[in-house]
Amino acid sequence: MVNRHSVPPGIPGEETVNTSSNPTLEHVLQRRLTRRQALRAGVQWTGAGWLGSLGITGCAFSVEKPGPIAPVTLGFNTVSKSLTDSVAVPAGYSARVLYALGDPMADGIPDWTGTGVESGDSFTRRAGDHHDGMHYFGLNAKDRSDPESSGRGLLCINHEQITQVFLHAAVPDNTRPRTKDEVCKEMNAHGVSVVEICKNAQGRFEVVRTSVFNRRITPLTPMELRGPVRGSEYAITRFSPDASRVRGTLNNCAHGHTPWGTYLTCEENWAGYFKRGNDAAMRGSAGNTLLARYGLKPGTTGPAHRNWASVQGDDFERFNISLSGASGDGSDDFRNELNTFGYVVEIDPFNPASVPRKRTALGRMAHEGCWPARAVPGKPVVFYMGDDGRNEYLYKFVSSAPYDPADTGLDAGDKYLDRGTLYAARFHADGTGTWLALTHNANGLNRDHAAFPFTSQAAVLVATRLAADVAGATKMDRPEWAAVHPLTGEVYISLTHNHATHRPIDQLDAANPRAYEDAHTPRSGNLNGHIIRWREDHDDPTATAFRWDIYLFGARSDADLATVNLSGLNSDNDFSSPDGLWFDPRGLLWIQTDDSAYSDATNCMMLVGNPGRVGDGGRRRVSSAVSGASKTVTTYVGENATVANLRRFLVGPRGCEITGACMTPDARTLFVNIQHPGQDTAGVLLTQPTTYASHWPLSTDATAEASAGTARPRSATVVITKDDGGEIGV
Ligand code: FEO
Ligand code: CA
Ligand code: CA
Ligand code: CA
Repeated sequence: MVNRHSVPPGIPGEETVNTSSNPTLEHVLQRRLTRRQALRAGVQWTGAGWLGSLGITGCAFSVEKPGPIAPVTLGFNTVSKSLTDSVAVPAGYSARVLYALGDPMADGIPDWTGTGVESGDSFTRRAGDHHDGMHYFGLNAKDRSDPESSGRGLLCINHEQITQVFLHAAVPDNTRPRTKDEVCKEMNAHGVSVVEICKNAQGRFEVVRTSVFNRRITPLTPMELRGPVRGSEYAITRFSPDASRVRGTLNNCAHGHTPWGTYLTCEENWAGYFKRGNDAAMRGSAGNTLLARYGLKPGTTGPAHRNWASVQGDDFERFNISLSGASGDGSDDFRNELNTFGYVVEIDPFNPASVPRKRTALGRMAHEGCWPARAVPGKPVVFYMGDDGRNEYLYKFVSSAPYDPADTGLDAGDKYLDRGTLYAARFHADGTGTWLALTHNANGLNRDHAAFPFTSQAAVLVATRLAADVAGATKMDRPEWAAVHPLTGEVYISLTHNHATHRPIDQLDAANPRAYEDAHTPRSGNLNGHIIRWREDHDDPTATAFRWDIYLFGARSDADLATVNLSGLNSDNDFSSPDGLWFDPRGLLWIQTDDSAYSDATNCMMLVGNPGRVGDGGRRRVSSAVSGASKTVTTYVGENATVANLRRFLVGPRGCEITGACMTPDARTLFVNIQHPGQDTAGVLLTQPTTYASHWPLSTDATAEASAGTARPRSATVVITKDDGGEIGV
């Protein structure tokens, strides 16, 4: 069975590279700048001198203040599970494509043809592929940040990966030297889009192609390395012998945003793009240990490696990280290039001339995303993160500097994100948990560690996974997105699934308690995933202890209630493999799936939950049995799902993942990403287009039905509105 993850099976996230012996065991809204503070900040941004008049005509946006927060109830009819090639939304709602693969984001760029003839360079001004994490930044009439603007904003959109075959006019041969144009197209289709969107005279959002804010950030965009790894031995390359600069960002999965108005894009399965020769004898023990822990063994290529290194020039040759130079430090080759990826990258969407900054203090891993706790003036700022690999860990970062709401832009990022404490989570069987500091000379992270001497904080951060192994973090069932409840501050994180080959039944624990078989899949284990949540002690995000339970278990609604369907899902809300999670400002939790375990019954989907609190359910003994082995563990399960507190809102087209969600502050426009429809058939011949599994979005456009039968599928951002103009979901 094909796993519809971002890249093919075999990516670092799809195999276990954690071989450690670790146990398997008051604000009413998310902190936002006030209108006065935003305007003050806007004055400062304008004062930077780069902002010109946008001259937008026909942009009929409004600035509408969000209403008061009150308890909400779900108010739409459930969408049924579906295998059709369309985006299904509740009755009374409409979904429309806003920004699809290849769409121009600048004047003068020709429209997408769907034949693969577009140049590689043109993708520096077109939408990239595989839309993923996304955030809406409101913009006012004076071109300044305005968190209350619902008619005009900047959308920051990650482009995690590519479906290679659909980008080109002919099927590429990755075993032969590649052409520069093909490789540039593939690289430029990755990264991030910053696009201005605005309501037109009909009240519908459009991309403003003339906007000076529009920008593509790609694997070729120069960036600064910041935090403790900057200047260290680990990041010396021919490009930057002083280890201060890096080139580009890769596999930008989910995202985050900061209280000071910047966007965070997170590097997930970056290791898969590289090639490594048989250089083990030259690397030394610690170097080999580090590379193995991040999934690149000697003499191997990653599963997303497309022979980019066959094109001449350092921009491309760096994707071969073999130790080939004579220097002792790597200043004459790209042996250390892999250490320049795996970070959270900060982007200022309001300053298109700014250089993005990689924030190494937040650790190096398969970063899924980076989401802020509620920010409190005078207290440290806190971010939650998941490392998406089987049996990897959950993390949080606590800044050294206390929060000052007057701060803005990337310089504020230097203040809060370059110094602080990174923690990994340990879940205990009694329903409590501990945050373990990954600090040099604490928790065993010293130079005496034989396999990888932790000689500095830079060493701890470059080898974050090894550090968390040593500190004793709990292996989890593939951490994906996190979300912080805006009313309670409790933190939710999806654990998308795991398999018994990676977590044998004797390694089930209270926080990862389930393994079972399913007649529809040849695998066994935690096939449908779960969503764990925790409450920090004293509701203080900087606390080093917490109490947890499991909010929701994915399952088929007809699965056994005692061992599999532990949350009591019914046909209105059953799902599998939770991935994207996002709380809207009203406290509704949007849950998105990236699934291949329930794909016999439904395409991927998005649901809306109205969660309670940690501890609203109770203790539960769960018995698992797989291949003749059995184990019973005690866990903590939230209150049962009902149609009142969890409902399916959307089902996507065939072969897609639903990922990325955000709203305008008035909650009347919802943006959602449809990622890689039809990916499962990407191996088919381009000369047989009728065999593509999906032709979306043309498949759902009535005016283009005739051509939909051969159209290439496209990832896209979709705009969802209620036909009566009302608030979404209620
Ligand atoms: Fe890119 Fe873990 O999803
Ligand atoms: Ca995907
Ligand atoms: Ca994901
Ligand atoms: Ca996923």
